[in-house]
Amino acid sequence: MKQLSLALCIVLMHTTVLAQSIRVAPGDSREGYNSGNYVTDSISLELRQGKAADLLSHARKSHLGLPPVQSFQPFALEAAQIELGRRLFFDRRLSRNKTMSCAMCHIPEQGFTSNEVKRPIGFEGRAIKRNAPTLLNVAYMQTLFHDAREDNLAQQVWSPLLAANEMNNPSVGSVLNQIQQDTTYRKLFAQSFSEPPNMLNVGQALAQFQSSLIAANSRFDQWYFGDNKAALSAEEVTGFKLFTGAGGCSNCHKIEEQTALFTDQQLHNTGVGYEFSMRPSSAKLTVQLAPGIEAQVDQTTVAQVGEAKANDVGRYEVTLQPEDRWKFRTPSLRNIALTAPYMHNGEFLTLEDVVQFYNEGGIPHELLSPMMRPLELSSDEQAALVAFLNTLTSDDVALLVADAFAAPIGDQTE
Ligand code: HEC
Ligand code: HEC
Repeated sequence: MKQLSLALCIVLMHTTVLAQSIRVAPGDSREGYNSGNYVTDSISLELRQGKAADLLSHARKSHLGLPPVQSFQPFALEAAQIELGRRLFFDRRLSRNKTMSCAMCHIPEQGFTSNEVKRPIGFEGRAIKRNAPTLLNVAYMQTLFHDAREDNLAQQVWSPLLAANEMNNPSVGSVLNQIQQDTTYRKLFAQSFSEPPNMLNVGQALAQFQSSLIAANSRFDQWYFGDNKAALSAEEVTGFKLFTGAGGCSNCHKIEEQTALFTDQQLHNTGVGYEFSMRPSSAKLTVQLAPGIEAQVDQTTVAQVGEAKANDVGRYEVTLQPEDRWKFRTPSLRNIALTAPYMHNGEFLTLEDVVQFYNEGGIPHELLSPMMRPLELSSDEQAALVAFLNTLTSDDVALLVADAFAAPIGDQTE
């Protein structure tokens, strides 16, 4: 009896630890950090217990609200390749000084993006001009990056691997040699691809893993596609009606009859980029040094030590067509509650700020999308729209985060 209760106790403890560890948020939420009374709610690293998932079954099963992922990728999903891609994704040796993995900007428990910075920090502290997009459901994006300059997940990986301010590898060959030096990788590449690592199969393995990060079946899906009338509250239903009606949101963030990607896969100018490029920056910068303690720093002081603000004209950088200035790709809004901050530059910290921006009609200028106009929504209506956006969080995210916590962190060559 004593043994049995001890066993039960261990099982119970384990369940609580697991439930606590899968916190889908930054390690420390910093709620109230601007107050002197701030108390950290950081969860310790020991609590980050992972649980490997069967990602192939997860990717293949039907997901309420999304079409089969297979129709969006040119390759057949395969367990060994997903496993290999997962290993590469968390491998810090894939950057030049062996410190930075893909997962350090696309942080699993932060919605596979970086919640704590508008724009992530790359190799040796270098600045990156754009916000890291979430990788949840990335397999459904027909074009990649905020300016849609890439269209294939397997090719995309070479951008961060080689970018001087991201993982800073000097060449394709140097990355392949690094992988080739590791016995486990040599074995896994032989098993999965019957050949050593090369430019194509490294990309494909990472694409396989990223294609398994599917997260739908949100409360919205259960209500809209699953016919569960109780899944949304009255306020959330009002929000949905505004999203598809007076708000005009679904003109770009599409909802179809059977599925909803919440993107039209097109690029538009909402004025966010125009505002960011053209607005003069303020003379002083507020820097928070500790809870409740802020300092005003002169921008000229910052300029001496920091990098100059990079220019970003969006799609124009790809096409060189003047009318494409400040156009950015419509992101999906699935799991949007988990992926703050928002927009290509991460300048909006909350969904309330985003909705207010749309309510004001974006930033008027000669290239503003004709679909943008002041909405004149009341504050209750704006709150309802935010409530609706909060229903788009998938119940599968915890499984993917627990799986990520169980992944090996490559930092030593065997
Ligand atoms: C230093 C931070 C950083 C690292 C490291 C990094 N990324 Fe990213 N990632 C970004 C940013 C920022 C963007 C958006 C860039 C843009 O739009 O120009 C991005 C974009 C992407 C996209 C496009 C997503 C979309 O919705 O269009 C994918 C896919 C991606 N990264 C995968 C990876 C993979 C795989 C790795 C590792 C090989 C990696 N990233 C490493 C910051 C990073
Ligand atoms: C003209 C097309 C269009 C319309 C209409 C539109 N959006 Fe967007 N939305 C976009 C584009 C393009 C972006 C990306 C802008 C950027 O990155 O600078 C975006 C970004 C967002 C984001 C941030 C997503 C992220 O991951 O950063 C949210 C949230 C959002 N829109 C919600 C809405 C809501 C709510 C409405 C209706 C009030 C709406 N949108 C109307 C095109 C549109």
